[in-house]
Amino acid sequence: MEGMPYFLEIFGRLPRAGPGSTESTRRAYGLLSGVPKAPRILDIGCGPGVQTVDLLKISGGTVLALDFLPLMLERTRSSAMQAGVSERLEVLEQDMREMDFPSDSFDIIWSEGAIYNLGFEEGLVRVRGYVKAGGYVAVSEAVWLKPDPPRPVVDFWAEYPEIDTVENKRAVIERLGYGLEGWFILPELDWTANYYEPMEKLLVQKSEEWKDIPEALAAIENARHEISLYRQHSDYYGYAFFVMRRAAACERM
Ligand SMILES: C[S@@+](CC[C@H](N)C(=O)[O-])C[C@H]1O[C@@H](n2cnc3c(N)ncnc32)[C@H](O)[C@@H]1O
Repeated sequence: MEGMPYFLEIFGRLPRAGPGSTESTRRAYGLLSGVPKAPRILDIGCGPGVQTVDLLKISGGTVLALDFLPLMLERTRSSAMQAGVSERLEVLEQDMREMDFPSDSFDIIWSEGAIYNLGFEEGLVRVRGYVKAGGYVAVSEAVWLKPDPPRPVVDFWAEYPEIDTVENKRAVIERLGYGLEGWFILPELDWTANYYEPMEKLLVQKSEEWKDIPEALAAIENARHEISLYRQHSDYYGYAFFVMRRAAACERM
């Protein structure tokens, strides 16, 4: 795929690979009630592993961190080592579309800014079989915050047609038989201070380094477009964190 290595050079070096924060991870985890003492957690699309390490610290359990990029898994492992929690971490290099865990493998399934790679609905159907009855699924997912977004926003999100209102996402969750334990919209700082500002700094450095490489400059331009779109139109879209519980009677699909 043309431009991919440059895109990865940017994306793979950021502190987080998507909007989020330790505060939001903690807040979502706080919506779980009656979690076992040392839960077994699957973190899908772990990226550089900020939330993976947070989960290891908050839960006292074990985390299986899954990503298809070795770079992300190396970064996750190294952060967990620095934080002194690596003995409870396992990593799995796998395409999430190839996941095939035995039924009832995990107490909690987590995915920040990554379940969209399966699609929200398909992702929730898939993981329903892997989480234990009465266990939890927590994901952050793109949502519309108000109607009638302007053209550039519609064009940008055309790549992910499953972006929808919180109300419609809740209807999907209910239809799939999950109980919704709670949800909240990620604060803007999760996008700006934690994601776009570090990206912007890196783009300044890379635009000098790559000034003679047109494909690289195109990747920089795309990233700058995304940042500027959010700055102008953050009132129209964001991420919602949904925390769900699998009902005991739910069947594996
Ligand atoms: C937007 S990033 C979010 C990363 C991390 N959860 C965070 O919030 O910082 C999405 C992650 O999913 C991974 N990913 C994308 N498609 C994938 C797939 N098909 N299978 C496994 N991982 C995938 C990417 O490599 C990336 O690390």
